[in-house]
Parts: sequence; C-alpha cells; structure tokens
Amino acid sequence: MNPVKHVAIIMDGNGRWGIKHKGSRNAGHRAGLNTVEMVINECFKNNIKYITLYTFSTENWKRPKKEINFLFNLLETFLVKKIHNLIEKKIKLRFIGTIKTLPAKLKKLLKESELKTRDGNELQVNIALNYGSKNEIINAIKLTVKNQINITKKNIEKNLYTNQIPDPDILIRTGNTNRLSNFLLWQLAYTEIFFEKKLWPDFKNHDFKKILKKFKSLKRNFGSI
Ligand code: IPE
Ligand code: IPE
Ligand code: MG
Repeated sequence: MNPVKHVAIIMDGNGRWGIKHKGSRNAGHRAGLNTVEMVINECFKNNIKYITLYTFSTENWKRPKKEINFLFNLLETFLVKKIHNLIEKKIKLRFIGTIKTLPAKLKKLLKESELKTRDGNELQVNIALNYGSKNEIINAIKLTVKNQINITKKNIEKNLYTNQIPDPDILIRTGNTNRLSNFLLWQLAYTEIFFEKKLWPDFKNHDFKKILKKFKSLKRNFGSI
C-alpha cells in the first residue's frame, strides 16, 4: 500500500459553481471554503502530513480587479476567523509564491499567520498564493548560480519554495479541466494525477476518500517495472 505524505490540489470550478447556483462567481469562491476545510480535516484524519492548495496563480491577475479583491478579502477573513482553530489542531501554515508583491495588509497577515502556527507539527498546509511554477524554477536556478553551487537536481530543489517538503504523491484537479495551469511543474514529475469532473464546492469527503483508496491500490513504478 502506498503511503500518502503529500496531497496537492488545484481547486478549480468555483466561478462556474457560483454562477450556476447563486448568479455570481464570488459566491462560488465563498462556497469553496467549505471544501477547503473538508480536505484539511480529511488530511488530518488520515495522518497526511502535507497539503498544498492552489489558491491564486501568477496568471490570475488577468481577472477583474473586483474578483481579485474578493479573493484576497476572503482569505483574510478565513485566516482571522480560523487561526485559533489551526493553532489548536497543531496545523502549520505556509504561503508559497511571490508573496512580496501582494498588498501590504495581506502580506502582514500572512506573516503573522505563519508565525502563530510555526510550532504546528500535525499537518502542514501550504497555500500557493501568487504562485507560478515557471517563476519558481527560474528563481531556484538563479539562486543556485548566484551561490556558485553546481546545477544539480538536489541543489535546485533546495531553492524551490517546497524545499524540505516531499513531492506530492497525489494531485487532484477539480472542475472538469485537464491541465496543470503552471502548478508545481517540477514537483509533480512522478505524482499520481486525478482529474475530477466535479466543481470544487461540490467535491465532498467521499470523493476525496475514493481518490485516497484508488491511490493506495496503484503500482508506482518510478521508471522501474
Ligand atoms: C478556482 O476557481 C479558484 C481560483 C482560481 C481562485 P475558478 O475561479 O477558476 O472557477 P472557474 O474555473 O472559473 O469555474
Ligand atoms: C488554476 O485555476 C489556479 C487556481 C486554482 C488558483 P484557473 O481556473 O486559474 O486555471 P486556468 O486559467 O483555467 O488554466
Ligand atoms: Mg478555473
């Protein structure tokens, strides 16, 4: 049976869900938060140590300003409301991506949230925010060259945001879209990928459990036979 250490998720389909059920994309983003809580709880229950959630990509700046602001506000409210709960459950939060160009107020809250949860040792939740995998890889190569160390897989990995985090065992993308959208291109080299038809707010714990079960039965070759 394959152990699951790290699950990565492209939480897609909020906008379509919102339009369909409430007439607004933003309502879908709000509804998607319930699924975020569900997957965090499931990881907790299943003793999975890392979960990485794609929350905002470097390409998502192309969206209307109103939607972008709504997404950032939603994250701020979530962090303020849930931080005590996260600390209590010994969950460590980490934000990965180009954090420095985010709005000052949000940046401050992200820093505080990381600090407050830094002793969490039950589950690490990585929030990919203003994240783009190509930028991450370019930065890692630049840092490697700058530090005058050899360009090897190990040295590049040390300079990725995911340094010290095992590569994802499982990638789930909801929303009936079969692409990676610039997410963890390096780290997903040998990840088992599950494309889900359901929109993110419709993704329930039995869907998640089904994927875990399927994963456990897979034969992972890593190039061998
Ligand atoms: C994913 O849902 C969430 C973010 C990108 C923030 P979308 O907003 O992309 O939802 P769809 O794909 O338009 O339905
Ligand atoms: C990927 O979803 C980004 C997040 C889930 C945060 P998108 O909905 O932005 O992806 P594309 O643009 O359809 O590929
Ligand atoms: Mg989408």
